[in-house]
Amino acid sequence: MEKILDLLSKRFEDAFEKAGYSKEYGKCVVSNRPDLCEFQCNGAMAAAKAYKKAPIMIAKEVTDVLINEGMFDSVEAIAPGFINIILDDTFLNSYINEMSVSEKNGYEPESIGKTAVIDYGGANVAKPLHVGHLRPAIIGESVKRILAFDGYKTIGDAHLGDCGTPIGLIFTEMQARTPNLVFFDENYTGEYPAECPVSLKELEEIYPFASAKSKEDEEYRAKARQAVFELQQGRRGYRALWERIMDISKADLKKNYGSLNVHFELWYGESDADPYIMPMIEDMKKQGIARISEGALVVDVKEDSDNKEMPPCMLLKSDGAVGYDSTDLATIVQRQKDFAPQKIIYVVDKRQGLHFEQVFRAVRKAGIVGDDTELIFLGNGTMNGKDGKPFKTRDGGVLRLEDLVQDVQDHVAEKMSDRELAAEEKEAIVKKVGLAALKYGDLSNAATKDYIFDIDKFTSFEGNTGPYILYTMVRIKSILGKFASTVGTDIMSVRKSVDAGDIKLELKGNESEKKLKTQLSLFSESISQAVQDVAPHKICTYIFDLSNLFNTFYHENKIIAEENEEKRKGWIALITLTLKVLEAAVDLLGIEAPEKM
Ligand code: ARG
Repeated sequence: MEKILDLLSKRFEDAFEKAGYSKEYGKCVVSNRPDLCEFQCNGAMAAAKAYKKAPIMIAKEVTDVLINEGMFDSVEAIAPGFINIILDDTFLNSYINEMSVSEKNGYEPESIGKTAVIDYGGANVAKPLHVGHLRPAIIGESVKRILAFDGYKTIGDAHLGDCGTPIGLIFTEMQARTPNLVFFDENYTGEYPAECPVSLKELEEIYPFASAKSKEDEEYRAKARQAVFELQQGRRGYRALWERIMDISKADLKKNYGSLNVHFELWYGESDADPYIMPMIEDMKKQGIARISEGALVVDVKEDSDNKEMPPCMLLKSDGAVGYDSTDLATIVQRQKDFAPQKIIYVVDKRQGLHFEQVFRAVRKAGIVGDDTELIFLGNGTMNGKDGKPFKTRDGGVLRLEDLVQDVQDHVAEKMSDRELAAEEKEAIVKKVGLAALKYGDLSNAATKDYIFDIDKFTSFEGNTGPYILYTMVRIKSILGKFASTVGTDIMSVRKSVDAGDIKLELKGNESEKKLKTQLSLFSESISQAVQDVAPHKICTYIFDLSNLFNTFYHENKIIAEENEEKRKGWIALITLTLKVLEAAVDLLGIEAPEKM
C-alpha cells in the first residue's frame, strides 16, 4: 500500500502544478498541531520565496484546487501560509480496511534482494555476560528484525571476543595451577581429551584473578602475551584447550542470549577472521598503503579535514601479533566474500567509535568495500544507575546480565502478586512482561543516548513502558474475546473475518475514533522511518501514541454494548487492526506478548 504521506503529497504536488507552481512544494507531513488538523503542507511558505508572492495567496490557490476532493474533510489555507488538512472519514476507513486485508498491515518492503549483516554480540568468551552487553543485544536484535521486515536478508553475527589477552591470561593461570595438564605438554602428540578441563564456574574465578595479577606482575603479563602469540601460531595443545573452552562458553552464551530472546545466525568469533588477516595485509602492502611505524605495521587513515586525533589502524603489533583492528578489518573481508552485503551495522558501545572510524576508513582505502556497501556504526550509550554512573551491583561490581533480568522479573512478579492465575501460567507471563519492561525501557531511548535504569518506572503498567503496551494488547484481546462469545464464536474466527475483509469499518465515528484511525494509517511511515534511521525507538514512540489513542477510544466508546451493529462491527475491525499493528511492532522490538496479564 502506498504510504499515507506519499498519497497526500502526490495530491498536493498535483495541486501545486495545477495552480502554476513547481510540484516540489507539495510535500505533506503529520501535523504538529493535532488540535487543529491531522496533516499539513507547508510548501506555500517555501514557494513564496521562489515566486515572490505572499504565501497565503499560494496556499489559497492550492487549496482551491483541492477543495472538492473526496479524500479531504477539509483543506484550509491558514495565515501566514500553512495548509491544514483533515481527512475524510470514508477515505480513511477504506485506507484502514485495506490495511486489515494486506500483508504486513500494508507495509511495502523496500529492500527485497538486499543483505544486511548486523554485528551485535561482542560477548567475551570465558567471561559471564554482563550488563554492558545488554544494550547491543537488545538494540541489535531489534534492528535485525526491523531490517528483515523491510525485506533484507539479515545475518546476525555474535562476533564473540574469543582471542586476545583474556585467553592468554586464562592459559597462564591454568598452567600455573595445573602445569601437568596434557594440553600444556609441548611434546605430546596424541589426541587431547574431549572434555574441557575447567568448568565455567572455575573460569569465572580464574579470569578476574589472572587479570588482577597481570596488573602488578610484568613477567606474568609477558607470559600471557606469549601464550596468545603461540595460540595464534597454532600450537596444538593451546588450540585444543581453546576449542574446549570455546565449546562450554558458547553453549552458556547461547543459553543466556536465548533467554533474552536474542538469536544469532552466526556464532563466529573474532578468530574466525584469522585466515583472512595475512592475505589482507599482503594486499595492503602491495597497494603501498601499509607502512612500518615503530616496528608495527599500520595503515594511515588520517584525512586533511580531521579536527581530532586520528591514529593509524594497527595491522601488526611490533611483536608480530594481530589485534582488535586487524580482526575487525579481516572480518569485513570475510563478510564481503560470504555475503556481499549492502549494509554492515555494528551495535557496539559508543566509546568504540574511534576504532570503527579507523576500521571503516581503512577498508575503504584498501578497496575491501566499495560504495555499494554501507558501513554503519550504531554506537550505543550507557545504561546508568540512578547516580548517573554506569550501572553496577550494590557492592560496586560488574552486574551479570542474568541477575539483572532476574531482578526485573522479581519486580514484575511482585506487582502481579494479586493476580489469580495458575503458578506456571503466571511464571510464564511474568517472564514475558519482565523482558518487555527491560527491553522497552532500553529501546524507547535513542540508541546513542545514555539512560537511567529505573526498575520501578520500567515495570510500571502505566506510562511509556513495555508493560503498558502489553497491557493494552491484552485489553484488546479481552474485548475481542467478549465480542466473540456474544456472537457465539472465538477470537481466531473474529480475527479471520477482519483479515478477510468480512468485518470492516463503514461509519463515521467520534473524535477518538478518528484519532485512532489516523495513527493506524501512519504505521508504514513509522516503520519506514525506523528503517531509514536504524532507530527502534521510533517504533516505541509510534506504539506508545497508538496505545494512548486506543485507550482513549476505549474509554469513550462502549464497544461491546454498542447497539448499532454496523458500528459495533466497524469497531471490532478497528481494534483488531490496532492489535495486529501492536503485535507486528512489538515483534520488531523483540518483545513477546502474553495472552493475559
Ligand atoms: N568483544 C568486544 C568488547 O567486549 C566487542 C566486540 C564488538 N564488535 C566488533 N566487531 N568489534 O569490547
